[in-house]
Amino acid sequence: MYRLSCILLNVFVYYIIYLDCAALGENDTINVSMAASVDYSKVPFNEKPLYTPPLEEIVDVLSRRLPATFEHVEVSAEDCPDLTQQPFNLSAPGLAGDAKLVELGGPPYLLPRVRRDRLYDLAALLRHLRRDPALLAGAGAGPWPHAGVNCEGIINLYVNEGQVTQGSRIVTVEPVGAPKGSGGYLQRQLPSNETRTALLGNYLLSEGKPGKVIKVVAKKRIGESNFITAIREALKEHYGDKVVGLGGAFVLRAGRVKHHVMPDFSATPVRTDAEVDAWLHYFDMRAPITHVGTLVSGDLGLDLRVQHFHGFSQHGDGGHYHYDTTPGEVHYEGYFALAGSVVRVDAPAETHAVGRD
Ligand SMILES: *[C@@H]1O[C@H](CO)[C@@H](O)[C@H](O)[C@H]1NC(C)=O
Ligand SMILES: *[C@@H]1O[C@H](CO)[C@@H](O)[C@H](O)[C@H]1NC(C)=O
Ligand SMILES: *[C@@H]1O[C@H](CO)[C@@H](O)[C@H](O)[C@H]1NC(C)=O
Ligand SMILES: *[C@@H]1O[C@H](CO)[C@@H](O)[C@H](O)[C@H]1NC(C)=O
Repeated sequence: MYRLSCILLNVFVYYIIYLDCAALGENDTINVSMAASVDYSKVPFNEKPLYTPPLEEIVDVLSRRLPATFEHVEVSAEDCPDLTQQPFNLSAPGLAGDAKLVELGGPPYLLPRVRRDRLYDLAALLRHLRRDPALLAGAGAGPWPHAGVNCEGIINLYVNEGQVTQGSRIVTVEPVGAPKGSGGYLQRQLPSNETRTALLGNYLLSEGKPGKVIKVVAKKRIGESNFITAIREALKEHYGDKVVGLGGAFVLRAGRVKHHVMPDFSATPVRTDAEVDAWLHYFDMRAPITHVGTLVSGDLGLDLRVQHFHGFSQHGDGGHYHYDTTPGEVHYEGYFALAGSVVRVDAPAETHAVGRD
C-alpha cells in the first residue's frame, strides 16, 4: 500500500510538472533534475523492413554513380576495421549484428516551439527493444538538462551486459546566449551515467560487432552534393521505391566542413526554414572530424529524416554536418552497415517539413 501510494504520488508529481512545463514560457527555468524521460511503453513504435540488396551490388551502384560528384572514388565491401581506434573512437569495434536504423521524435518537437517533455533515455530504449549487446551511434539533440541549454548530440553509446560505455559528445554554443556570429562552441564528452538525449535523433542500432561493411573513400569534390547526399541519391536513383538504409561513420581526413551548432531554444517561435537558418549558428570546421549518423533512400511513409550526421574531433570541432567548403582538398573515408529495417519511435502526430536539412 505504501509502495502504491508512492507510485501514485510520483505519477501525480510528474503530471503537475508536465502541466507546469506546458505552461512555461521559453525563458523560464524549470527544475531540470526532476525532468522525466519518455516512457517507451506509452509512445508509438513502428518498424518497417528496408530493402537489403547484396553488399557487392551496392558497391557497384556507388562505384558507378559517385564519380559524378568526386574525382577519386573507391568503394568496397570489406571487414570493418576496429572502429574503437582513432580517429573513429566508437564505443564498439564494429557496426554489424542485426543492424537497424532508429529514428526518435523529430523536428516538430524542436520547432516552432520546444517540447521539453521529449527527453529520451537511450539505455532505457535498448532495454525496451531487448537489445544487449548494442551499439547506438548517430545524430540527435543532446540532453539539454545535462548541458543546461539546448545542444547537439553526437551519440556513440555501447551497452554490454547492462554496462554502459559512453563515447557520446555534446556541443553547445559558447558563451551561452552569444549573438549569432560572435560566439564559439564547446564540445564535451557525456559521463556514462548520462544516457539521455532529447527531441529528435537518427541512430544506427547494431550489436557493434566486427563484420562486413561498405567502405567509401571519396576525394576532390567536383559535383554539388555533399558526401552523404551523393551516396543517398545514388541509391535512390538505382533502387527507386525499394528503400535502402545505411548507418555508420565517416571521417573527413582533409579539408573543411560547414557545421551548425544549435543555440539555446528560441524565445520566439521558429516557423520557416529561413527562420531556422537565422536561428542556427554556423561554423567552418577543420579535419580530422569523425561523423556518425544514418541515411535512407526513401521515407516509407514514416516521416523520416532521410540523412543526418553529426561530427566530433580531438581538437574540439564538432556539430551538425552540412557540406564541405574546400572541394579541391576534401578527403572522406566512411564505413556503413546495411540496415535490415527502420524503427520509428514516438513520431510526432502533427508534422511539418521545416528544419530537416
Ligand atoms: C528572453 O530572453 C531574451 C535574452 O535574455 C530576452 O531578450 C527576451 O526579452 C526574453 N523574452 C521574454 C519573453 O522574457
Ligand atoms: C529541484 O528538485 C530537487 C528534488 O526535489 C531538489 O532537491 C532541488 O533542490 C531542486 N532545485 C531547485 C533549483 O529548485
Ligand atoms: C551522474 O553522476 C553524477 C555524479 O555522481 C551526478 O551528479 C549526476 O546527477 C548523475 N547524472 C544522472 C543523469 O544521473
Ligand atoms: C580518441 O581516443 C584517443 C585515445 O583515448 C584520444 O587521444 C583522442 O583524442 C580521441 N579522439 C577523438 C576524435 O575524440
